Amino acid sequence: MDSFHLKELISQKGIEERLLSLANEINEFFKNESFIAIGVLKGALFFMADLLRMIENCEAYDFIQAKSYLGIETSGKIEILKEPNISIKDKNVLVIEDILDTGITANAIKNYLIERGAKNVYFCTFLDKPSRRVNFIKPDFCGYTIDNYFVVGYGLDYNEKFREKRGIYILEFDVTKL
Ligand code: IMP
Ligand code: MG
Repeated sequence: MDSFHLKELISQKGIEERLLSLANEINEFFKNESFIAIGVLKGALFFMADLLRMIENCEAYDFIQAKSYLGIETSGKIEILKEPNISIKDKNVLVIEDILDTGITANAIKNYLIERGAKNVYFCTFLDKPSRRVNFIKPDFCGYTIDNYFVVGYGLDYNEKFREKRGIYILEFDVTKL
């Protein structure tokens, strides 16, 4: 028996509308410069696919995968599971993320990209949970700032489940069944 249920936080329609304005912000910012988009697997899958089809001046894209999470708690340690194959040397890089939580993953990715010669590293995150941050990482572009909920859907998972849901849902634990 499941000991949690899902409560809608952001609807599919809300996401579609927000993406239009977010893509405009990114297009305005990069109107005179090109960039490489690096998506953070697996959570950024749907966000990146939707966003990339609305933005201009992206010369190439690739993926990175870093692992930091076990269940809903961070281990604090980062392992790069998949490295991008294209060169980012002297390029503007836009990292596309599902969520900025503690910021540990984003910070590790930023260091990794700078070590490999990126000219500038920018972050575009679909969701931001600033109340959980343990460092000074801030997104340059952000879909929504949310309170400290554990959320799933639109790429975000709970133990690999619910990524395919089209909206964002709060995972609410039912304490009477735990
Ligand atoms: P950070 O290193 O703490 O910023 O965590 C980044 C990663 O943790 C994200 O890319 C997600 O995979 C995962 N994560 C953090 N918060 C949530 C959440 O509310 N739902 C699902 N995954 C989350
Ligand atoms: Mg995850």
